[in-house]
Amino acid sequence: MKFLIIFAFWLGGFQVLAVEQPSTLKLVHVLFRHGDRNPETSSLWETNLYYNESFYRQGYGQLTNNGKRTEYSLGQALRERYDDFLGSEWNINYIDVRSSDVNRTKMSALLVNAGLWPPEDDDVWLSSFNWQPVPYNYLPSEDDKEILFYMACSKLDEEIDKVLEQDDIKNYIEERYNSTFNILAENTGKTVDLFEAFLLYFGMEIQEELGFPLEEWTQSVYPEPLHSAAVDYYYIETNNTILRKITSGYLLNKILSDTENKINGNISPQNRKMFFYSGHETNIATLLLTLEAYDLTDIPPYGGYVLLELHEIDGVNGLKLFYQNYEQADPIPLKLPNCDYFCVYDDFYQQVQDILPTSDTDCIASNLDKLKRRRNIIV
Ligand SMILES: *[C@@H]1O[C@H](CO)[C@@H](O)[C@H](O)[C@H]1NC(C)=O
Ligand SMILES: *[C@@H]1O[C@H](CO)[C@@H](O)[C@H](O)[C@H]1NC(C)=O
Ligand SMILES: *[C@@H]1O[C@H](CO)[C@@H](O)[C@H](O)[C@H]1NC(C)=O
Ligand SMILES: *[C@@H]1O[C@H](CO)[C@@H](O)[C@H](O)[C@H]1NC(C)=O
Repeated sequence: MKFLIIFAFWLGGFQVLAVEQPSTLKLVHVLFRHGDRNPETSSLWETNLYYNESFYRQGYGQLTNNGKRTEYSLGQALRERYDDFLGSEWNINYIDVRSSDVNRTKMSALLVNAGLWPPEDDDVWLSSFNWQPVPYNYLPSEDDKEILFYMACSKLDEEIDKVLEQDDIKNYIEERYNSTFNILAENTGKTVDLFEAFLLYFGMEIQEELGFPLEEWTQSVYPEPLHSAAVDYYYIETNNTILRKITSGYLLNKILSDTENKINGNISPQNRKMFFYSGHETNIATLLLTLEAYDLTDIPPYGGYVLLELHEIDGVNGLKLFYQNYEQADPIPLKLPNCDYFCVYDDFYQQVQDILPTSDTDCIASNLDKLKRRRNIIV
């Protein structure tokens, strides 16, 4: 048996046996953010000196070469962590790769797989080309409740507007960000609310990353308080049970149903080992906040990822949760508020049960005609 290594040595005349246990890992769900990218026009403004697409070689919104390296390294890190578990030979049954219908997440899925599955032995199909194709799939955005919930669920905007109209939240946002919104509106020509500020944060951050100098007026709002406003948006998006159902409930439903099938031996194909979700920073942020597993103070970084591992330990099935935000070398172990780092599956389920959607009414706005804004912008 490959994983069973027995060390025997003499200690004061007694023979001591230290046995490394066989792996307890049964299934892994990986949710990752795409790599470093160019801005979208929704995050820029027309008087910006760097508005023109000609500044962005790969096109608006696309991965840069740094972004490609980020995702490729992510795949290599997964290879290192799960080498024994996955084995070196790719098989269609082992891994299911799902992306959002967005170019940069599709490219990211390809790159992570390139780092995870360099062909070896019989998988080498062209010598001196250290790559093999690994497919991904996606749903049309308007049906993708699991990843692009903000395109698929009209109810999101309806419920966000309700939260933003609550007195306590309204006062909080106004006191902190009114002057920021005004400065942004004056200088960009846009009508600026919390969501617009959220978008503009990404524009400025990316412009800075790419080495294009920001105009002087931005200094009074960027990075703070704009950065805090952007992070606050995630807290608004997950401010109550209805919103948590929309932003993370559908994804959790899928993850938990696959997990349950694995536990019960009903998973198809039987030898499925891993699920990939190639998504966006919003997916990571809203999932962590929904689970109340992490106090978010930052935007999840490019190539950031969440792992949900199913383990069977002494006959008990349970989940381990990790977050890689690159503040440490390894992904940080996290736990649900009332659970241990190894959370028994039934206890995990109990804690998240109320945020699992039961029908499409959790996703569709009750009054579509009255909806002020339909969010159809990809961040
Ligand atoms: C963008 O830049 C290209 C190439 O320099 C130029 O031809 C085009 O007119 C510019 N577009 C705008 C909207 O400024
Ligand atoms: C993806 O790229 C295509 C061009 O190949 C473009 O038409 C489309 O708008 C892009 N979609 C997204 C979501 O970036
Ligand atoms: C913030 O701005 C809004 C609209 O401009 C205004 O109605 C409100 O009184 C302002 N609040 C604060 C605290 O400045
Ligand atoms: C709701 O949003 C406010 C403002 O960001 C935040 O302070 C608060 O913690 C949020 N509440 C919940 C339950 O997420």
